[in-house]
Amino acid sequence: MTDALLQVDDLRVTFAIAGREVRAVDGISFTVSPGATLAIIGESGSGKTVSCRAIMGLLPAGTAIGGSARLRGTELLGLSDAELRRHRGSDLAMVFQDPARSLNPTMRIGLQITEAITTHRKVSKREAQSQAIELLRLVRMPAAERRFHEYPHQLSGGMRQRVMIAMALACRPKVLIADEATTALDVTTQAQIMELLLDLQQELDMALIMISHDLGLAASYADEVIVMYAGKIVEQAPAAGLFGAGGAVRMRYTRALLDAIPHVERSAHTLLPVVSGRPPDPTALPPGCSFAPRCGYAEDDCLAKVPALAEHAPGHSWACWHPCENGGAA
Ligand SMILES: Nc1ncnc2c1ncn2[C@@H]1O[C@H](COP(=O)(O)OP(=O)(O)OP(=O)(O)O)[C@@H](O)[C@H]1O
Ligand code: SF4
Ligand SMILES: [Mg+2]
Repeated sequence: MTDALLQVDDLRVTFAIAGREVRAVDGISFTVSPGATLAIIGESGSGKTVSCRAIMGLLPAGTAIGGSARLRGTELLGLSDAELRRHRGSDLAMVFQDPARSLNPTMRIGLQITEAITTHRKVSKREAQSQAIELLRLVRMPAAERRFHEYPHQLSGGMRQRVMIAMALACRPKVLIADEATTALDVTTQAQIMELLLDLQQELDMALIMISHDLGLAASYADEVIVMYAGKIVEQAPAAGLFGAGGAVRMRYTRALLDAIPHVERSAHTLLPVVSGRPPDPTALPPGCSFAPRCGYAEDDCLAKVPALAEHAPGHSWACWHPCENGGAA
């Protein structure tokens, strides 16, 4: 695709734990266009966070990373710390789940935002402070000037997340990654922060990568959805192609996720449902399809050969030997 902003190809991340390999991310590829929203869903441990941290250059030193992640053609993997710092913030920024742990409890929030600005830009202290207040206004912080002088513990959870978003936006990134940025908040605040992120995406013309446990959010807001399982992408399609009227889920794990949501709640924001059975041990993946031990449709070939992700219909890829017919809705 020629208009790719972020192009990830065959990204692989392997950790070594007690002499055993954990293939946390196992050859994923995707493209993000300017201004687009990509949702990444999948149960705990499927590799969502590690994928994004690899792209951001935020994995521990010594982690084995392979493949490619290019931002407007510039390779991000393997850059030096100094080069990465230049990209982080101005090109790519990430907001995490727990703002309480990400903020420094002993520093006033104004100073933390000011430092986020001066780390990346050569501006005077006074200019950085005025930009910090502007950023607080941008994230709709009530009484921005007063809050500037407060400490994190004086703010609500939602306000703290607004501060984290303000810091992430300090250098107007082209891609914002929100890693379950609303999960730790109560339901009303979750909706407000999600609305804020989507408004800011429009205002600042950013691409948004939304890692979420909330299928309802993915269905409502994403242009494109990636479903991950055991480090791999198992299904990828436009959101409407999966969830909309006439949507056609093909991969059995995606179907199991959707079927695990009670029908009455399907249109509401719904936490990632629990599919029966356990996710596989990442140090001992089964030889064929990783989902086979939990799949009611597994046959001998599923146990023997890994199904490759392939584009079987325009824009719609899946990895399954025996995909659902007609979306497989129950
Ligand atoms: N620093 C690390 N060292 C070793 N293994 C790690 C490290 N970080 C993550 N992992 C492993 O990599 C795999 C993928 O983890 P990741 O955090 O990406 O999952 P996730 O999809 O984001 O899950 P969740 O929904 O719980 O956030 C897991 O098996 C995890 O235990
Ligand atoms: S490949 Fe086989 S085991 Fe895996 S999801 Fe498809 S039907 Fe189930
Ligand atoms: Mg995660």
